Amino acid sequence: MTFRQRHLLGIDPLHPTEITEILDLADKYVDLNRQSIKHSDVLAGLTQINMFFENSTRTQASFELAGKRLGADVMNMAMQASSIKKGETLIDTALTLNAMHPDLLVVRHPHSGAVDLLAQKVNCAVLNAGDGRHEHPTQALLDALTIRRRKGRLHRLNIAICGDIAHSRVARSNIILLGKMENRIRLVGPTTLVPSVFSEFGCEVYDDMNEGLRDVDVVMMLRLQRERMDGGFIPSEREYYHRYGLDAEKLSKAKPDAIVMHPGPMNRGVEIDGDIADDINRSVIQEQVEMGVAVRMAAMDLLAQNLREGVV
Ligand code: NCD
Repeated sequence: MTFRQRHLLGIDPLHPTEITEILDLADKYVDLNRQSIKHSDVLAGLTQINMFFENSTRTQASFELAGKRLGADVMNMAMQASSIKKGETLIDTALTLNAMHPDLLVVRHPHSGAVDLLAQKVNCAVLNAGDGRHEHPTQALLDALTIRRRKGRLHRLNIAICGDIAHSRVARSNIILLGKMENRIRLVGPTTLVPSVFSEFGCEVYDDMNEGLRDVDVVMMLRLQRERMDGGFIPSEREYYHRYGLDAEKLSKAKPDAIVMHPGPMNRGVEIDGDIADDINRSVIQEQVEMGVAVRMAAMDLLAQNLREGVV
């Protein structure tokens, strides 16, 4: 086993061989999840607590299902109704939960760095389910698994990440992961949403979709993150759709077998045309959701092995 991490806080600390190990194990869990009896006991006896300080549909459901399929005792904390509302600090909440001896803590938080801070205060393994604009490692891993299964490899691909890069932890984790695996990454969007600093990460930056999508293998669309915008980043949603929304015309610039991805939740008619999102020949959006459960099972399995063996 090469995966030697105590936590999964981001893609940044991972070595490419650790990424490959998670994906290889996730492939096995995809097979398990397609059987009628989808059960394993690798997390039997362990307690998993999900703490989501931000709304989530698929990520929380996916982590819950992943833990249950591996036999863990899974608890979802309703953070909206928690003592945070009564003024308790994040650290106090963490210490309280820590005293209940969880083994795996899955945390989503609106502030970048909050999950790292929490990980320093607890004895269990912490998985980052998205912190502010910082990282969303399991999303990048599930995207990588989807690409690897569809394209047969995870290197030397031309991948366009399009839209609201500036506010996106999904983009950040994907840029880091796909860069580590030696792909060519293009960032496409209006200059207000694609900070030019990203060219320093070795990405090519485009503000024109037709140029940015030319001959790419993968088109990854992102949601316009209105809740993280505090000014006039785009003229109007209609204008944005016209210039940056993925439709058949713009997609025709990509390779004929290019796949279309979106982490969800989607705004149809804003960043993506509904017909493209539903096109089973191009869109792998539902497959991403399927891969999400498998990748989270793999990550929790590997972290639990490290916990048990006390290797980290
Ligand atoms: C993303 C997130 O929360 O960062 N969604 C997800 O986890 N599938 C992207 C988004 O909110 O747009």
